Amino acid sequence: MCKELLETAWSALERAYAPYSHFQVGAAIRTKSGKIWSGCNVEIANYGCTLCAERTAIVKAVSEGDLLPGGLETVLVATKTDKPTAPCGSCRQVIEEFSCAETRILMSNKPGEISLELKHADLLPYSFNSSDLN
Ligand code: THU
Repeated sequence: MCKELLETAWSALERAYAPYSHFQVGAAIRTKSGKIWSGCNVEIANYGCTLCAERTAIVKAVSEGDLLPGGLETVLVATKTDKPTAPCGSCRQVIEEFSCAETRILMSNKPGEISLELKHADLLPYSFNSSDLN
């Protein structure tokens, strides 16, 4: 099951548009429907408009109608680094929006290998979410 996610994220990494940081990130997400979506980071000259790989993948799924709240099963982040790369704070908040209790975060810093697996809830404890708005 992870093989397809790994291949998807590592292929996406090669499409990263990172002319400023040269830090390539690939992401793959699996939703409750079983669909897999890819994403890469897309950097913009004014830096602040940069899109992370994880958010690119999530926005693709949402905009195609595949990611209702609670529909995010797995997020895999791939980087060519010495240690695994965890989603940044902004991505954690976006993952929170579509997460369920089981949402897991996989990290891979070597093609074909999962280096670290964590639960989203452990990466963003005491989160702010829709339940706070009531
Ligand atoms: N980046 C991601 O794509 N995901 C993360 O979770 C961390 C950071 C990207 C943004 C930017 O293009 C580059 O990595 C360096 O920060």
